[in-house]
Amino acid sequence: MPYIASYNLDRCKDCGTCHEIVACSGRDEACIGCGACALACPNEAIEMVEEERTREVIIYVNCKATVVPERIPVKEALSLSAYPMARMPQEAGIFAPCEVGACFSCAVEIDGVVKPACITGVEDGMRIRTSLPENYVTRRIVGGFMGHTVGGVGTPWNFKGRGYIEVACFAGGCNLRCPQCQNWMTTYGGKGSPLTPEEAAHRMTLSRHQFGVNRMAISGGECTLNRPWLMQYITKLKRLNTDSHARFHVDTNGSLLTPDYIDELVEAGMTDIGIDLKGIEVNTFHRITGLKDSSLAQTCMDNAWAAVGYIRDHYKDFIFLGIGIPYNKDLISLEEVEKRGKRICAMDPDVQVCVLDYRAEFRSYIKRPSAQEMMGVRSILKDTGLRTVLCQTAYGHVGP
Ligand code: FES
Repeated sequence: MPYIASYNLDRCKDCGTCHEIVACSGRDEACIGCGACALACPNEAIEMVEEERTREVIIYVNCKATVVPERIPVKEALSLSAYPMARMPQEAGIFAPCEVGACFSCAVEIDGVVKPACITGVEDGMRIRTSLPENYVTRRIVGGFMGHTVGGVGTPWNFKGRGYIEVACFAGGCNLRCPQCQNWMTTYGGKGSPLTPEEAAHRMTLSRHQFGVNRMAISGGECTLNRPWLMQYITKLKRLNTDSHARFHVDTNGSLLTPDYIDELVEAGMTDIGIDLKGIEVNTFHRITGLKDSSLAQTCMDNAWAAVGYIRDHYKDFIFLGIGIPYNKDLISLEEVEKRGKRICAMDPDVQVCVLDYRAEFRSYIKRPSAQEMMGVRSILKDTGLRTVLCQTAYGHVGP
Protein backbone atom coordinates (compact mmCIF):
# COMPACT_ATOMS: atom_id res chain seq x y z
CA MET A 1 0.00 0.00 0.00
CA PRO A 2 1.39 3.49 -0.85
CA TYR A 3 2.12 6.01 1.89
CA ILE A 4 1.48 9.67 2.51
CA ALA A 5 2.99 12.02 5.09
CA SER A 6 0.62 12.89 7.91
CA TYR A 7 1.50 15.97 9.99
CA ASN A 8 0.82 16.16 13.70
CA LEU A 9 0.37 19.88 14.25
CA ASP A 10 0.56 19.52 18.03
CA ARG A 11 4.15 18.32 17.69
CA CYS A 12 5.17 20.52 14.77
CA LYS A 13 7.33 23.47 15.85
CA ASP A 14 7.36 25.03 12.40
CA CYS A 15 11.13 24.63 12.14
CA GLY A 16 11.00 24.31 8.36
CA THR A 17 13.14 21.13 8.18
CA CYS A 18 10.57 19.26 6.11
CA HIS A 19 10.72 21.73 3.24
CA GLU A 20 14.03 23.56 3.67
CA ILE A 21 16.37 20.61 4.26
CA VAL A 22 14.48 17.66 2.86
CA ALA A 23 14.13 17.16 -0.89
CA CYS A 24 10.33 17.17 -0.64
CA SER A 25 8.09 16.67 -3.65
CA GLY A 26 5.29 18.56 -1.87
CA ARG A 27 2.47 18.02 0.57
CA ASP A 28 -0.94 16.42 0.23
CA GLU A 29 -1.68 15.77 -3.46
CA ALA A 30 1.99 16.26 -4.38
CA CYS A 31 3.34 13.90 -1.68
CA ILE A 32 4.87 10.73 -3.14
CA GLY A 33 5.19 9.05 0.26
CA CYS A 34 8.98 8.72 0.13
CA GLY A 35 9.25 9.26 3.90
CA ALA A 36 12.30 11.54 3.80
CA CYS A 37 10.48 14.22 5.81
CA ALA A 38 9.50 11.74 8.54
CA LEU A 39 13.13 10.60 8.86
CA ALA A 40 14.35 14.19 9.09
CA CYS A 41 11.73 15.82 11.31
CA PRO A 42 13.48 16.62 14.61
CA ASN A 43 10.14 16.78 16.43
CA GLU A 44 8.76 13.47 15.18
CA ALA A 45 5.75 15.39 13.92
CA ILE A 46 5.40 13.40 10.70
CA GLU A 47 4.08 9.90 10.38
CA MET A 48 3.88 7.92 7.16
CA VAL A 49 0.38 6.46 6.85
CA GLU A 50 -1.01 4.13 4.25
CA GLU A 51 -3.20 5.69 1.60
CA GLU A 52 -4.93 4.00 -1.28
CA ARG A 53 -4.19 5.55 -4.67
CA THR A 54 -7.16 5.69 -6.97
CA ARG A 55 -5.14 5.99 -10.18
CA GLU A 56 -2.42 3.90 -11.72
CA VAL A 57 0.32 4.81 -14.15
CA ILE A 58 2.34 2.83 -16.68
CA ILE A 59 6.10 2.92 -16.32
CA TYR A 60 8.77 1.09 -18.33
CA VAL A 61 11.48 -0.60 -16.30
CA ASN A 62 14.33 -1.74 -18.52
CA CYS A 63 11.84 -1.50 -21.41
CA LYS A 64 9.23 -3.69 -19.72
CA ALA A 65 5.85 -2.05 -19.13
CA THR A 66 4.54 -2.19 -15.56
CA VAL A 67 1.42 -0.76 -13.99
CA VAL A 68 1.99 0.82 -10.58
CA PRO A 69 -0.01 3.14 -8.32
CA GLU A 70 0.45 6.86 -9.01
CA ARG A 71 2.47 9.07 -6.63
CA ILE A 72 4.87 6.48 -5.30
CA PRO A 73 8.66 6.78 -5.25
CA VAL A 74 10.59 5.05 -8.04
CA LYS A 75 12.23 2.79 -5.43
CA GLU A 76 8.78 1.48 -4.50
CA ALA A 77 7.87 0.99 -8.14
CA LEU A 78 11.12 -0.89 -8.73
CA SER A 79 10.41 -3.18 -5.79
CA LEU A 80 6.98 -3.91 -7.31
CA SER A 81 8.77 -4.68 -10.58
CA ALA A 82 11.12 -7.31 -9.10
CA TYR A 83 14.02 -4.90 -8.45
CA PRO A 84 14.15 -4.83 -4.65
CA MET A 85 16.03 -2.25 -2.61
CA ALA A 86 18.94 -3.57 -0.54
CA ARG A 87 19.92 -2.54 2.97
CA MET A 88 23.57 -3.54 2.59
CA PRO A 89 25.69 -3.26 -0.57
CA GLN A 90 26.37 -7.01 -0.62
CA GLU A 91 22.64 -7.86 -0.77
CA ALA A 92 20.90 -8.42 -4.08
CA GLY A 93 19.06 -5.35 -5.32
CA ILE A 94 19.62 -1.61 -5.51
CA PHE A 95 21.44 -0.30 -2.45
CA ALA A 96 19.34 2.45 -0.86
CA PRO A 97 20.91 3.34 2.49
CA CYS A 98 20.01 6.98 3.17
CA GLU A 99 16.49 7.21 1.70
CA VAL A 100 16.63 10.99 1.50
CA GLY A 101 18.20 11.55 -1.92
CA ALA A 102 21.63 12.57 -0.61
CA CYS A 103 24.03 9.69 -1.31
CA PHE A 104 22.92 8.75 -4.84
CA SER A 105 23.65 5.06 -4.15
CA CYS A 106 20.17 4.25 -5.40
CA ALA A 107 20.54 6.32 -8.57
CA VAL A 108 18.93 4.97 -11.73
CA GLU A 109 18.38 6.49 -15.15
CA ILE A 110 14.96 8.09 -15.33
CA ASP A 111 13.86 9.47 -18.69
CA GLY A 112 17.50 9.89 -19.67
CA VAL A 113 18.60 11.62 -16.46
CA VAL A 114 20.28 9.91 -13.48
CA LYS A 115 18.27 10.54 -10.29
CA PRO A 116 17.92 8.94 -6.85
CA ALA A 117 15.15 6.33 -6.88
CA CYS A 118 14.30 6.98 -3.24
CA ILE A 119 12.89 10.50 -3.62
CA THR A 120 11.80 10.64 -7.26
CA GLY A 121 8.11 10.03 -7.89
CA VAL A 122 6.74 7.91 -10.72
CA GLU A 123 4.98 9.53 -13.65
CA ASP A 124 2.90 8.08 -16.42
CA GLY A 125 5.09 6.88 -19.30
CA MET A 126 8.31 7.15 -17.27
CA ARG A 127 11.23 5.12 -18.59
CA ILE A 128 13.60 3.72 -16.00
CA ARG A 129 16.87 1.91 -16.60
CA THR A 130 18.42 0.23 -13.60
CA SER A 131 21.92 0.23 -15.10
CA LEU A 132 23.62 3.60 -15.32
CA PRO A 133 24.86 5.06 -18.62
CA GLU A 134 28.48 4.20 -19.41
CA ASN A 135 29.51 7.86 -19.44
CA TYR A 136 27.77 8.64 -16.13
CA VAL A 137 30.02 10.36 -13.62
CA THR A 138 28.98 9.47 -10.10
CA ARG A 139 27.87 12.29 -7.79
CA ARG A 140 26.49 12.90 -4.33
CA ILE A 141 25.56 15.77 -2.08
CA VAL A 142 28.56 17.01 -0.17
CA GLY A 143 29.23 20.37 1.41
CA GLY A 144 30.54 22.27 4.41
CA PHE A 145 34.12 22.58 3.11
CA MET A 146 35.86 24.42 5.93
CA GLY A 147 38.84 24.59 8.26
CA HIS A 148 38.66 22.83 11.63
CA THR A 149 40.52 23.36 14.85
CA VAL A 150 39.54 20.08 16.53
CA GLY A 151 39.46 17.50 13.74
CA GLY A 152 37.65 14.18 13.89
CA VAL A 153 38.02 10.75 15.42
CA GLY A 154 40.85 9.92 13.00
CA THR A 155 42.86 13.07 13.76
CA PRO A 156 46.00 12.35 15.84
CA TRP A 157 45.69 13.89 19.31
CA ASN A 158 49.00 15.75 19.12
CA PHE A 159 47.63 18.03 16.39
CA LYS A 160 44.67 19.19 18.43
CA GLY A 161 44.74 22.64 19.98
CA ARG A 162 47.05 24.26 17.43
CA GLY A 163 44.67 26.49 15.49
CA TYR A 164 43.43 25.13 12.17
CA ILE A 165 44.64 21.55 11.82
CA GLU A 166 42.43 20.09 9.12
CA VAL A 167 39.95 20.93 6.40
CA ALA A 168 36.82 18.82 6.18
CA CYS A 169 33.76 18.27 4.06
CA PHE A 170 30.58 16.42 4.91
CA ALA A 171 28.82 13.90 2.68
CA GLY A 172 25.02 13.94 2.86
CA GLY A 173 22.98 10.89 3.81
CA CYS A 174 23.55 8.19 6.41
CA ASN A 175 22.52 4.57 6.86
CA LEU A 176 22.08 4.99 10.62
CA ARG A 177 19.24 6.89 12.31
CA CYS A 178 20.91 8.07 15.53
CA PRO A 179 18.37 10.00 17.64
CA GLN A 180 21.21 12.19 18.92
CA CYS A 181 22.79 12.75 15.49
CA GLN A 182 25.10 15.75 15.71
CA ASN A 183 25.08 16.46 12.00
CA TRP A 184 21.45 15.83 11.19
CA MET A 185 21.01 18.63 8.68
CA THR A 186 23.75 17.01 6.58
CA THR A 187 22.45 13.53 7.26
CA TYR A 188 18.95 14.30 6.01
CA GLY A 189 19.76 17.14 3.63
CA GLY A 190 18.74 15.98 0.18
CA LYS A 191 18.35 19.42 -1.34
CA GLY A 192 21.84 20.55 -2.26
CA SER A 193 23.50 20.20 -5.64
CA PRO A 194 25.34 16.91 -5.98
CA LEU A 195 29.06 17.15 -6.76
CA THR A 196 31.21 14.87 -8.84
CA PRO A 197 34.29 13.45 -7.09
CA GLU A 198 36.44 15.80 -9.16
CA GLU A 199 34.46 18.88 -8.16
CA ALA A 200 34.64 17.91 -4.50
CA ALA A 201 38.38 17.16 -4.71
CA HIS A 202 39.01 20.58 -6.25
CA ARG A 203 37.01 22.32 -3.54
CA MET A 204 38.83 20.39 -0.84
CA THR A 205 42.22 21.27 -2.32
CA LEU A 206 41.25 24.94 -2.45
CA SER A 207 40.17 24.75 1.20
CA ARG A 208 43.50 23.16 2.09
CA HIS A 209 45.36 26.11 0.57
CA GLN A 210 42.97 28.62 2.09
CA PHE A 211 43.51 27.29 5.63
CA GLY A 212 47.16 26.34 5.17
CA VAL A 213 46.83 22.76 6.49
CA ASN A 214 47.92 19.33 5.29
CA ARG A 215 45.09 17.20 6.55
CA MET A 216 41.93 16.76 4.44
CA ALA A 217 38.99 14.92 5.98
CA ILE A 218 35.71 13.65 4.66
CA SER A 219 32.95 12.91 7.16
CA GLY A 220 29.17 13.01 7.07
CA GLY A 221 26.39 11.83 7.26
CA GLU A 222 28.21 8.68 6.26
CA CYS A 223 30.87 9.18 3.64
CA THR A 224 31.25 5.50 2.71
CA LEU A 225 27.68 4.99 1.40
CA ASN A 226 28.43 5.60 -2.26
CA ARG A 227 31.58 3.55 -2.78
CA PRO A 228 32.38 4.51 -6.40
CA TRP A 229 32.05 8.17 -5.46
CA LEU A 230 34.35 7.91 -2.45
CA MET A 231 36.98 5.92 -4.32
CA GLN A 232 37.10 8.42 -7.16
CA TYR A 233 37.13 11.35 -4.74
CA ILE A 234 40.14 10.02 -2.77
CA THR A 235 41.95 9.13 -6.00
CA LYS A 236 41.41 12.58 -7.49
CA LEU A 237 42.24 14.34 -4.24
CA LYS A 238 45.54 12.49 -4.06
CA ARG A 239 46.33 13.45 -7.65
CA LEU A 240 45.76 17.10 -6.76
CA ASN A 241 47.88 16.84 -3.61
CA THR A 242 51.00 14.89 -4.49
CA ASP A 243 53.26 16.38 -1.78
CA SER A 244 54.42 14.10 1.01
CA HIS A 245 52.71 16.23 3.71
CA ALA A 246 49.19 15.66 2.41
CA ARG A 247 46.99 13.42 4.60
CA PHE A 248 43.70 11.92 3.43
CA HIS A 249 41.37 11.26 6.32
CA VAL A 250 38.09 9.30 6.24
CA ASP A 251 35.72 9.56 9.21
CA THR A 252 33.11 6.81 9.24
CA ASN A 253 30.73 4.68 11.30
CA GLY A 254 32.54 1.67 9.79
CA SER A 255 29.34 -0.26 9.15
CA LEU A 256 30.00 -0.79 5.44
CA LEU A 257 33.74 -1.28 5.60
CA THR A 258 34.53 -4.75 4.34
CA PRO A 259 38.19 -5.78 3.90
CA ASP A 260 38.08 -5.23 0.13
CA TYR A 261 36.62 -1.75 0.64
CA ILE A 262 39.41 -0.91 3.10
CA ASP A 263 42.06 -2.27 0.71
CA GLU A 264 40.65 -0.13 -2.07
CA LEU A 265 40.62 3.00 0.10
CA VAL A 266 44.23 2.44 1.11
CA GLU A 267 45.25 1.86 -2.48
CA ALA A 268 43.49 5.06 -3.53
CA GLY A 269 45.50 7.05 -1.00
CA MET A 270 43.69 7.10 2.34
CA THR A 271 46.23 7.71 5.10
CA ASP A 272 44.05 8.23 8.20
CA ILE A 273 40.76 6.77 9.31
CA GLY A 274 38.43 7.36 12.24
CA ILE A 275 35.85 4.67 13.04
CA ASP A 276 33.07 4.98 15.62
CA LEU A 277 32.37 1.81 17.60
CA LYS A 278 28.86 2.63 18.72
CA GLY A 279 28.19 -0.54 20.68
CA ILE A 280 29.52 -3.91 21.72
CA GLU A 281 26.05 -5.22 22.55
CA VAL A 282 23.38 -5.08 19.93
CA ASN A 283 20.82 -3.50 22.28
CA THR A 284 23.16 -0.60 22.87
CA PHE A 285 23.79 -0.33 19.14
CA HIS A 286 20.01 -0.16 18.56
CA ARG A 287 19.65 2.62 21.12
CA ILE A 288 22.53 4.67 19.83
CA THR A 289 21.94 4.25 16.09
CA GLY A 290 18.14 4.18 15.97
CA LEU A 291 18.24 1.11 13.69
CA LYS A 292 15.19 -0.97 14.40
CA ASP A 293 16.05 -4.08 12.43
CA SER A 294 18.03 -6.47 14.64
CA SER A 295 19.91 -8.34 11.96
CA LEU A 296 20.86 -5.08 10.19
CA ALA A 297 22.05 -3.59 13.49
CA GLN A 298 24.09 -6.71 14.23
CA THR A 299 25.70 -6.67 10.78
CA CYS A 300 26.54 -2.96 10.96
CA MET A 301 28.05 -3.34 14.44
CA ASP A 302 30.05 -6.46 13.53
CA ASN A 303 31.37 -4.81 10.36
CA ALA A 304 32.66 -1.79 12.29
CA TRP A 305 34.51 -3.99 14.80
CA ALA A 306 35.87 -6.23 12.04
CA ALA A 307 37.07 -3.15 10.13
CA VAL A 308 39.06 -1.96 13.14
CA GLY A 309 40.63 -5.43 13.51
CA TYR A 310 41.43 -5.65 9.80
CA ILE A 311 43.11 -2.24 9.71
CA ARG A 312 45.12 -3.11 12.79
CA ASP A 313 46.20 -6.47 11.37
CA HIS A 314 47.05 -5.27 7.87
CA TYR A 315 47.88 -1.58 7.96
CA LYS A 316 49.21 -0.81 11.42
CA ASP A 317 52.39 0.73 10.04
CA PHE A 318 50.80 2.72 7.21
CA ILE A 319 47.44 4.03 8.32
CA PHE A 320 46.64 6.20 11.32
CA LEU A 321 43.56 4.75 13.04
CA GLY A 322 41.45 6.55 15.62
CA ILE A 323 38.46 4.97 17.36
CA GLY A 324 35.44 6.92 18.61
CA ILE A 325 33.32 5.65 21.49
CA PRO A 326 30.09 7.42 22.30
CA TYR A 327 29.20 7.92 25.94
CA ASN A 328 26.10 9.05 27.73
CA LYS A 329 24.77 7.28 30.80
CA ASP A 330 21.31 7.09 29.22
CA LEU A 331 22.70 5.13 26.29
CA ILE A 332 25.48 2.92 27.59
CA SER A 333 26.56 1.54 30.95
CA LEU A 334 30.03 1.94 32.43
CA GLU A 335 30.33 -1.87 32.45
CA GLU A 336 29.89 -1.89 28.70
CA VAL A 337 32.41 0.94 28.34
CA GLU A 338 34.91 -1.22 30.18
CA LYS A 339 34.06 -4.25 28.05
CA ARG A 340 34.61 -2.18 24.93
CA GLY A 341 37.92 -0.92 26.25
CA LYS A 342 39.13 -4.46 26.93
CA ARG A 343 38.17 -5.63 23.46
CA ILE A 344 39.95 -2.70 21.81
CA CYS A 345 42.97 -3.19 24.06
CA ALA A 346 43.20 -6.83 23.01
CA MET A 347 43.49 -5.63 19.40
CA ASP A 348 45.99 -2.86 20.10
CA PRO A 349 46.63 -1.09 23.41
CA ASP A 350 48.27 1.83 21.58
CA VAL A 351 45.43 2.73 19.26
CA GLN A 352 44.00 6.24 19.81
CA VAL A 353 40.57 6.15 21.41
CA CYS A 354 38.38 9.21 21.82
CA VAL A 355 35.28 9.13 24.04
CA LEU A 356 32.60 11.35 22.56
CA ASP A 357 30.19 13.07 24.92
CA TYR A 358 26.83 12.35 23.35
CA ARG A 359 24.17 14.95 23.89
CA ALA A 360 20.79 16.01 22.57
CA GLU A 361 21.27 17.40 19.07
CA PHE A 362 18.49 15.90 17.00
CA ARG A 363 15.69 14.01 18.70
CA SER A 364 16.98 12.58 21.89
CA TYR A 365 16.63 14.62 25.02
CA ILE A 366 19.60 13.24 26.90
CA LYS A 367 21.62 15.58 29.06
CA ARG A 368 25.21 16.23 28.04
CA PRO A 369 27.61 14.29 30.29
CA SER A 370 29.60 16.54 32.60
CA ALA A 371 33.35 16.92 32.15
CA GLN A 372 33.77 14.98 35.39
CA GLU A 373 31.71 12.05 34.05
CA MET A 374 33.77 12.02 30.88
CA MET A 375 36.99 12.00 32.87
CA GLY A 376 35.60 9.02 34.81
CA VAL A 377 34.93 7.15 31.57
CA ARG A 378 38.43 7.96 30.40
CA SER A 379 39.88 6.49 33.62
CA ILE A 380 37.90 3.28 33.11
CA LEU A 381 39.29 2.94 29.60
CA LYS A 382 42.83 3.71 30.74
CA ASP A 383 42.47 1.00 33.40
CA THR A 384 41.76 -1.56 30.69
CA GLY A 385 45.31 -1.00 29.42
CA LEU A 386 44.59 1.46 26.60
CA ARG A 387 47.39 3.99 26.49
CA THR A 388 46.01 6.77 24.30
CA VAL A 389 42.56 7.83 25.49
CA LEU A 390 41.12 11.27 24.87
CA CYS A 391 37.76 12.47 26.01
CA GLN A 392 35.60 15.16 24.54
CA THR A 393 34.07 17.52 27.09
CA ALA A 394 32.17 20.77 27.03
CA TYR A 395 35.52 22.47 27.66
CA GLY A 396 37.47 20.73 24.89
CA HIS A 397 39.46 17.52 24.58
CA VAL A 398 41.28 16.03 27.55
CA GLY A 399 44.04 13.51 27.25
CA PRO A 400 45.70 11.33 26.27
S1 FES B 1 19.39 5.94 -0.78
FE1 FES B 1 18.61 7.15 -2.36
S2 FES B 1 20.02 8.76 -2.39
FE2 FES B 1 20.73 7.62 -0.72
